[in-house]
Amino acid sequence: MLRSKAGYDKRRHYFTTRLVYQATSTRCVMASSAKIQVSWIVLPAVPSAVWFCRRFVIDTLHRWDMLGLVDAVQLVAAELVLNAVRASTAAGTDVTVCLWAERGSLFVEVGDYMEELPTLRRPTPEDGRGLGLSVVSSMSKRWGIRQEGSGKVVWSELSYA
Ligand SMILES: Nc1ncnc2c1ncn2[C@@H]1O[C@H](COP(=O)(O)OP(=O)(O)OP(=O)(O)O)[C@@H](O)[C@H]1O
Ligand SMILES: [Mg+2]
Repeated sequence: MLRSKAGYDKRRHYFTTRLVYQATSTRCVMASSAKIQVSWIVLPAVPSAVWFCRRFVIDTLHRWDMLGLVDAVQLVAAELVLNAVRASTAAGTDVTVCLWAERGSLFVEVGDYMEELPTLRRPTPEDGRGLGLSVVSSMSKRWGIRQEGSGKVVWSELSYA
């Protein structure tokens, strides 16, 4: 049995994550006259979620023929998922990653169930961290936070030609 230093069963999380990954949903809906593509995934709030999120971004953008956006979207999504995982201190919670594309914009939305809201930090070099949201901000046309239920969604809008 594989166990991490933190004592949780890595193999169980791996299989749980795989199962959830396979349950990914993809929809293509018509709203007004515009075609909106939507794809989302629910992942356990554990560190491996970042890896599965990256795979999800690659697979989705491949399907949508938007491979030119893969690097930027992976970077933004991975920062937001890592933040959501770190914030999800309650055991057994999930993070949700949703991608949707409409009229030249690609939206990345990452939801978690924690009340505390993100804060854009101004870290010094000695801090060693605190830059993730600045990276998200600089990659995004717009970004923001909205409260949803007992948690929130952090979102980023990226442009594509
Ligand atoms: N989903 C979230 N829920 C609650 N707090 C958050 C969330 N995301 C970010 N935060 C808060 O906002 C702060 C800034 O986030 P940011 O990503 O910029 O830095 P970091 O995660 O601390 O460090 P780094 O991203 O450089 O590893 C975090 O330290 C955390 O306190
Ligand atoms: Mg961060």
